[in-house]
Amino acid sequence: MEYRRLGGSGVKVSEISLGSWLTYGGSVAEQQATDCIHKAYELGINFFDTANVYVRGAAEEIVGNALKGFDRDSYFLATKVYFPMGEGPNDRGLSRKHITEQCHASLRRLGVDYVDLYQCHRYDEGTPLEETLRALDDLVRQGKVLYVGVSEWTAEQIGEALRIAKEMNLDRIVSNQPRYNMIQRNIEAEVVPLSEREGVGQVVFSPLAQGVLTGKYRPGQAPEEGTRAADPESSRFMRQLMNEEVLSAAEGLRAVASDAGLTMPQLALAWVLRQPNVSSAIIGASRPGQVEDNAAASGVELPPEALDRIDEVLAGVIQRN
Ligand SMILES: NC(=O)c1ccc[n+]([C@@H]2O[C@H](COP(=O)([O-])OP(=O)(O)OC[C@H]3O[C@@H](n4cnc5c(N)ncnc54)[C@H](OP(=O)(O)O)[C@@H]3O)[C@@H](O)[C@H]2O)c1
Repeated sequence: MEYRRLGGSGVKVSEISLGSWLTYGGSVAEQQATDCIHKAYELGINFFDTANVYVRGAAEEIVGNALKGFDRDSYFLATKVYFPMGEGPNDRGLSRKHITEQCHASLRRLGVDYVDLYQCHRYDEGTPLEETLRALDDLVRQGKVLYVGVSEWTAEQIGEALRIAKEMNLDRIVSNQPRYNMIQRNIEAEVVPLSEREGVGQVVFSPLAQGVLTGKYRPGQAPEEGTRAADPESSRFMRQLMNEEVLSAAEGLRAVASDAGLTMPQLALAWVLRQPNVSSAIIGASRPGQVEDNAAASGVELPPEALDRIDEVLAGVIQRN
């Protein structure tokens, strides 16, 4: 496994990281989730991502339990705050109250004294950014959070946060967590250029387009039982991807992968990692074999002709905004 700096910070994270959305605490049984996390650790993955909202805290509990046996300094643990955790008016968002209370709740569920990266899961239009950044800075000063990040923020929002942090001498955002894969390239226009200039790293989610880029879904065929697309609850997040046009285009990647001596998941992950502003690609995995397949993408360099062929094959389905 190879490691990269998280944005402009000094901490190093594995190029492939493991997340827990729709999997741990949900569709994947606890033992299997633990096996995936342990396999990842064994392969040198040191970066584990979760969120308070994933199954209302259940994912954090499973991730925390699975990591309990490992030295705290040997892994980098990230969680998030923003989405509703209850029905009350203060049970959501990025107010000082909700951030502080949820940070404490996350630490309890994860069974740790601090999280390495605390991320604002979305931008909160209903809270002054100064309040959010000050609350996060306090958590950093208290030692409960080591680094601060955001997720799916626009270039403008990230830029504004950096400006305020500088002006008020507050801890600076080191990472953004956006969606990024060979099909969904929205961050390339504005978020990446700004982040490169400012030392903010991307920790990208759904690098396999939720499985669509692994070749497991074939045009004209129903998804196999046990896959994300076959699950009625999870598949609603795949609407932009599970259509004949995308699946037919993705078929063209099969030959590109095989000519490069890679599996399709490895091709997709190596493509994401070719972008130097990406600090890590956060995969999901429902079984240890997937972790193994995906981890092998670290360190792979795609030749320019493979990159050109990918663009040709996907030309009609690439989403840029
Ligand atoms: N910040 C945010 O708003 C946000 C949003 C989404 C995700 N995330 C984070 O990013 C993580 C990854 O997102 P994601 O799950 O969408 O990523 P992904 O890696 O694109 O998709 C993961 C899914 O693809 C399938 N898969 C993975 N490896 C495979 C392989 N080698 N062969 C065949 N199938 C394979 C598995 O699904 P099945 O086996 O179940 O079919 C797996 O659950 C999440 O866990 C979460 O931590 C963050």
